[in-house]
Amino acid sequence: MGIIESLGRIDWSFPTLSNSGIDSIHWYPATYLAAIPGTLIAFFTDTESVVMDPFCGSGTTGVEAIRLGWKFIGVDNSPVAPLMADAKLSYPEPKLFEITLESVLRRVGSGVLGNGRRDEYPNKEEPSAWYHSETLQVLNRLLTEIITIEDRLLRRFFLSVFSGVLKNCSSQRRHWGWGCDNIKPKPEEIVYKDELTIFAQAAGSHLHSSATSFEAAIVHVASYLLSVLREMK
Ligand SMILES: C[S@@+](CC[C@H](N)C(=O)[O-])C[C@H]1O[C@@H](n2cnc3c(N)ncnc32)[C@H](O)[C@@H]1O
Repeated sequence: MGIIESLGRIDWSFPTLSNSGIDSIHWYPATYLAAIPGTLIAFFTDTESVVMDPFCGSGTTGVEAIRLGWKFIGVDNSPVAPLMADAKLSYPEPKLFEITLESVLRRVGSGVLGNGRRDEYPNKEEPSAWYHSETLQVLNRLLTEIITIEDRLLRRFFLSVFSGVLKNCSSQRRHWGWGCDNIKPKPEEIVYKDELTIFAQAAGSHLHSSATSFEAAIVHVASYLLSVLREMK
């Protein structure tokens, strides 16, 4: 069967599949089903490959490339996209993750920031239309702590988690589209949100999804290597 015919037999809407786990940890507009790049990469690569997505968005293609054991290069002109893609493609060392998260939460909770950092933030007016003043203050402390994490990957991992919970910490209760369309909550709808709990839970489930995703990649690579060994016999 030719390539075109084989590809034509696939139902590209993948009606029984949806993105979950690592592919659903952070909202991003216009993501595609992971099964689309997953199928195409598996179809067009067989030996060690480098997959490039020049419009990588949240890194859906990257997750599939890594899962199949290949290297990945992602490019995007939105700074949020590579932040999310980096976070989806990295698996922080669990102990370092735990120690760092615990230290960030303790400092932010006590209001005493590391190295005498100040928790002042610019442009209060715009975020005040979205967040309760106390929520905003804690969010600002949280960001102040995260941006000083020394380990680059861990810093970007936590920044991505921070970015992912910003909507839920706001008083806009409808979906992300309302945030993108700049539809602010009415002043009487502004409510306090416990963002430290929201952030800690999101960080924990992100780590769990990363672990599952990396285990899947290891199993895949191992079974691929086994099949290569069998062919060599
Ligand atoms: C439809 S989204 C890709 C979503 C991705 N497939 C996923 O599942 O997450 C298209 C991406 O192209 C990026 N983009 C648009 N114009 C670009 C350009 N000139 N150079 C690089 N990236 C660009 C956008 O920032 C956006 O992230």
